[in-house]
Amino acid sequence: MNKGFGNDDPGLADYISRLYAPEDELLADVRARSVAAGLPDIQVAPLDARHLEVLARLSGARRAVEIGTLGGYSGIALLRGMGAGGQLDTIEIDPRHAEIARESFRRAGFTDCARVHVGRALDVLPGLAPDGPVDLVFIDADKDAYPAYLAWAADNLRPGGLVLLDNAFLFGHLPEKPTGERATSIEAMQSVHETLARGGKFRATVLPTGEGLAVGVRV
Ligand SMILES: C[S@@+](CC[C@H](N)C(=O)[O-])C[C@H]1O[C@@H](n2cnc3c(N)ncnc32)[C@H](O)[C@@H]1O
Repeated sequence: MNKGFGNDDPGLADYISRLYAPEDELLADVRARSVAAGLPDIQVAPLDARHLEVLARLSGARRAVEIGTLGGYSGIALLRGMGAGGQLDTIEIDPRHAEIARESFRRAGFTDCARVHVGRALDVLPGLAPDGPVDLVFIDADKDAYPAYLAWAADNLRPGGLVLLDNAFLFGHLPEKPTGERATSIEAMQSVHETLARGGKFRATVLPTGEGLAVGVRV
């Protein structure tokens, strides 16, 4: 009955990545410039970027909010998925990351569609709410704040809107008892899954990507 969660045969991932070629020159350039500038090499994997692009396209999103910009890698994927008329508000606490991201969006031809907000996401998000309901929220920043980010998404997504949360497996620690130095992040991620699964605001699942991608549709 239970076919397990994911498949750890690296040959399969290699085959799919080679065939679907999820990283083109533009994304490779974002990754290379980010690393050269000393940013942490923690953007989504190329195939995860393709997942984001396809999910954005599938949902018909036109307005998206991203929490955790880094160098703009996933932001470009979301903008590609939204196509012409898509608008991304992306939030980044580190001004150096934001600067790289702005250049990434410029090179991708998305200068007019991407607004990079520099600041702590919990301070920036309230200012985005008055712009009206959003179609998609992508959460990929500090794990302890995921419950608060999910609450913002629940309040600000249109019915049928999509919330996507990266690192939903919490690097393999999700099912553990919340003790030790990871206690708060385990508690936070377990709380997020409780809300998605039983909170009544989302119809949700978790896609078994390498990091786990939680996907919820606002009901
Ligand atoms: C995993 S990276 C984001 C990767 C990006 N989504 C991508 O795939 O290209 C997380 C980013 O969130 C930023 N960040 C961490 N805590 C934050 C906070 N409280 N508010 C806004 N950004 C934050 C970090 O500086 C980092 O750039």
